[in-house]
Amino acid sequence: MNSSRYFALIPAAGIGARLGADIPKQYMPLAGRPMLTHVLTTFAAASVISHVFVVVSADDGYIGELMAAAPHLQGRVSVLFDGGPSRRESVLNGLQAIRPLVGDDDWMLVHDAARPGLTGGLIEHLIETLQDDPVGGLLALPVVDTLKRSDQQTRVEQTVERTALWAAQTPQMFRYSLLLRALRLADAVTDEAGAVELLGLQPRLVEGSPRNFKVTLPHDVALAEMFLKEKS
Ligand code: CTP
Ligand code: MG
Repeated sequence: MNSSRYFALIPAAGIGARLGADIPKQYMPLAGRPMLTHVLTTFAAASVISHVFVVVSADDGYIGELMAAAPHLQGRVSVLFDGGPSRRESVLNGLQAIRPLVGDDDWMLVHDAARPGLTGGLIEHLIETLQDDPVGGLLALPVVDTLKRSDQQTRVEQTVERTALWAAQTPQMFRYSLLLRALRLADAVTDEAGAVELLGLQPRLVEGSPRNFKVTLPHDVALAEMFLKEKS
């Protein structure tokens, strides 16, 4: 009975304040191509993905040039100028914009433009694990470091039990109608799983890779570039 399709939705309407470059971080060149081009290329090359949607801000001045320089994305990627003031709103606006194109039970893989280390293998692993799941889930990594909770003076208040703790990554994969409903109801969540959890559901954790980290701070750039050069 498995006729559901798989779509990618990439929120790329942030400004990259913590990275502090002179352009939004998703457009920074990494190993010769903009960060976002790496992400779009990975999804466009995955045959299991029916189509890729990228959400940029209404006044985005970079995406036109990016798409023009990437003929291999033509026909596989559509740009939505529907970004909002938060990641959640960008994703929600994107979901609403594609309403006529997707079915309620189709799967949406929502992935940060700032995680260029995603591979086709990880996409397949996520989909294979979750294709029959009633809820959906996300890539995540078991926490390996010992965790400390600090007080106001940055002194250790407590060592936090690490067992059972995971760090969330993306893609996060949920069926279209469930995700839309969850994101409409939630208002202060930082990921899709958080919105689905508020419905009382338990998304499944699927082990990802350290290479799929989020480029957030200036020192992340060199590491991302090193991984991408190895990949190509
Ligand atoms: N994002 C978005 N719309 C927003 C904010 C973020 O689509 N209003 C996207 C970013 O472009 C990124 C992803 O959500 O692909 C993850 O967000 P984050 O890493 O926090 O990126 P920024 O918000 O751009 O960075 P910062 O928080 O440092 O400003
Ligand atoms: Mg942000």
